[in-house]
Amino acid sequence: MAGRDEPTAKGRPRLRIQNARKSFDSRVVVDVGDLVFGEHPIEGLIGPNGAGKTTLLRLIMHSTALDHGRITLLDGNGAYDADDGRVLSNMRTHEIVRLGVVKSNQVIQDFEPLTIYDSLLLAVATRRDERPYRVLSENRLWRQHAEEIWEYVDRSGFGRLTGYAKSAGEKKLLDIVRCLLLKPKILLLDEPTAGLPGEVRDRLMSFIKELATQRNISVVIVEHDLNVIWTLSDYVHFMAEGSVILQGEPDWLRGHKTVVEKYLGTGHVRD
Ligand SMILES: Nc1ncnc2c1ncn2[C@@H]1O[C@H](COP(=O)(O)OP(=O)(O)OP(=O)(O)O)[C@@H](O)[C@H]1O
Ligand SMILES: [Mg+2]
Repeated sequence: MAGRDEPTAKGRPRLRIQNARKSFDSRVVVDVGDLVFGEHPIEGLIGPNGAGKTTLLRLIMHSTALDHGRITLLDGNGAYDADDGRVLSNMRTHEIVRLGVVKSNQVIQDFEPLTIYDSLLLAVATRRDERPYRVLSENRLWRQHAEEIWEYVDRSGFGRLTGYAKSAGEKKLLDIVRCLLLKPKILLLDEPTAGLPGEVRDRLMSFIKELATQRNISVVIVEHDLNVIWTLSDYVHFMAEGSVILQGEPDWLRGHKTVVEKYLGTGHVRD
């Protein structure tokens, strides 16, 4: 097996989650033995309400601490083999973001009092390690990155840069565009399409598909809109009662008895 001095071939950025456990009030809500995200450009993570999907993503970002376990970034540049990598579970969230692991939020984020323009400029600044006060007091960054910011705003379906994000859908979309402008290696999307009009959802998803396939970003999407999962994902992980119990290609998984019994047949609600 190759070590640090013998890089493996360039591959996709991946996350490996090993022996990860999280309890709330003595109740185990995540218990994952060995799971890898990022073997495919777009992977779905599905499962009933309360299965532990959001908690698992929060554990990756270290916005929630593990009880025990290890989460590692294998960043796809060939520097690490499958047993090595950067251990995220010891880092703080902003350090994880700097390494290229970024998550959008299931619960709507309020960006006010920042305008759309300032929120996105801050994402570019974060990526470049610029100090926020300089970003908001000078237009230099904007001049350098205007074309890129506009491309992301337009391609994601947001379509404007002035004023504030007001509606729930706009706030959600702004959160996602902000994540994209951070230029992630791994992008975790927690119910990205909830609250978005159909045409915006389709535009956003085709942009994300393009980013995943052409710019080598590994995307993990948690969704209850299963049309999004079945049409967009290359591979799907099915989570129930804290564990990923089935994995496979969408067409195989959607017909699986366990998925039908535990999820598809039971009904589920969005946030
Ligand atoms: N901070 C917390 N304190 C106590 N319990 C929590 C906390 N966060 C999550 N839980 C519980 O952990 C379990 C898993 O929740 P989680 O939000 O991860 O599920 P989910 O799969 O994302 O569900 P949904 O599809 O409804 O978003 C639930 O029973 C939830 O009530
Ligand atoms: Mg959730």
